[in-house]
Amino acid sequence: MPDTQSPSISSSSPVRSDALVFFGATGDLAYKKIFPALQAMVKRGHLDVPVIGVAKAGWNLDQLKARAQDSLEQHGGLDQAAWQKLSSLLRYVDGDYADAATFAEVRKQLGSAQHPAHYLAIPPALFEKVVEQLVQSGSAKGARMIVEKPFGHDLASAQELNRILLSAFPESSIFRIDHYLAKGPVHNIVSFRFSNSFLEPLWHRDHIESVQITMAEDFGVQGRGVFYDQTGAIRDVIQNHIFQVMSNLAMECPARHDSESIRDEKVKVLKAIPAIDPCNLIRGQFEGYKNEKGVASNSSVETFAALRLDIKSWRWDGVPFYIRAGKNLPTTCTEVIARLRRPPQTEMTEPAPQNYMRFRIGPEMTIALAVSIAAPDENGQRSLIELEACRHPRPEEMEAYERVLTDAMAGDATLFARQDYVEEAWRIVDPMLKAQTPVYTYRPQTWGPSEVPGQARANTTPPGGWMSPFADAADDLHIVSQPA
Ligand code: BG6
Repeated sequence: MPDTQSPSISSSSPVRSDALVFFGATGDLAYKKIFPALQAMVKRGHLDVPVIGVAKAGWNLDQLKARAQDSLEQHGGLDQAAWQKLSSLLRYVDGDYADAATFAEVRKQLGSAQHPAHYLAIPPALFEKVVEQLVQSGSAKGARMIVEKPFGHDLASAQELNRILLSAFPESSIFRIDHYLAKGPVHNIVSFRFSNSFLEPLWHRDHIESVQITMAEDFGVQGRGVFYDQTGAIRDVIQNHIFQVMSNLAMECPARHDSESIRDEKVKVLKAIPAIDPCNLIRGQFEGYKNEKGVASNSSVETFAALRLDIKSWRWDGVPFYIRAGKNLPTTCTEVIARLRRPPQTEMTEPAPQNYMRFRIGPEMTIALAVSIAAPDENGQRSLIELEACRHPRPEEMEAYERVLTDAMAGDATLFARQDYVEEAWRIVDPMLKAQTPVYTYRPQTWGPSEVPGQARANTTPPGGWMSPFADAADDLHIVSQPA
């Protein structure tokens, strides 16, 4: 049985992968994300090994190169020197994933490579076939597996995928992608929390009243109707991306900096979360979704979800966490608001607005602390202003896919979801996914359904209400109105 526990303490750095094989080379993800990431890796000097695309498309290498070139022109720009280099590294194998000949050809293309990284950018239903064939063709030995999300569609299927992968690879060689983990602002939540001594004493049930996380996108399913209609908002972004953000917000400081110490702390957060009660969930679907290509005409899949969960730990018990995510909302923004408890009200003090801390993950990184100050006219009124630090993405920063592929090939597992983490995440959402709660329609560019019965709405609305990204900012001095 391969090792599924933390790796032993070792001072030697992991071996670098000496080839990258990516399954699904002619697909949408390769076109939008993988080729641009590969070019960026070449440019930074992080990729100098054969890159073998595999797909069943009836293509040849020239066609794959033409597709890669087009992808770079459409997504981020073609850098002539880097592209020439990448083009010289590219190989292509066309064939069926059930056919041993495909994998014999992969093995041949690997040449003398001893430690390939196999990247499965394909539907999870194909994993078992590919893993079997990799083993039989001798390409699994010494290799790493990089797998795309969604990792399963419920707890049972995730467990089954883990069984398949772990039958051939040790956990330390499996890299489950969640590209949110590779976003600087997501990572920065942890650095900010544990490198500023003023915050930690407040970051606690005694001072925090509630936490809300919004992941809003102002666009629809963008031609991914088939995928989205099998997935929905909870599986697409909540069970993975938002839970990773939440784990970073809620975790304790790891004792060490290695990947397992960090991942251990994140798993502890999930272990403390009871399965979400379906009565703490609202699901919505934007008007017109059923007309999207690939979507069933009677689809009850959610494109919006708002929910409440609890973390039963010493730090967080009694602090509700609210999450909402959706497509076709009024803006595109992912941010966290942690509201602090109200200051005491005495005869000397007028009711003061509530402080909050804001972490914005995108479109730019913002960290803000909303504080109450006396209004300029000195009439005793207070207003809330945000002390704000903001940083826009810089061209030299690594994009998330470049980061995950670079780290996986270098054997650094920190930014990947471990087996126990993924299974805990599914455990939390599984009962509500199976509960088949109603789906309410909402108008595009609104904040989700309005026709929701009172109790469900109350259960999923933070005390003091949701704060809408951007909309609550009163002016460019960042004076914000107190939420209703
Ligand atoms: C993907 C989801 O994982 O993340 C998409 O499948 C979503 O539906 C995307 O739009 C959001 O990622 P980002 O990096 O654009 O915020």
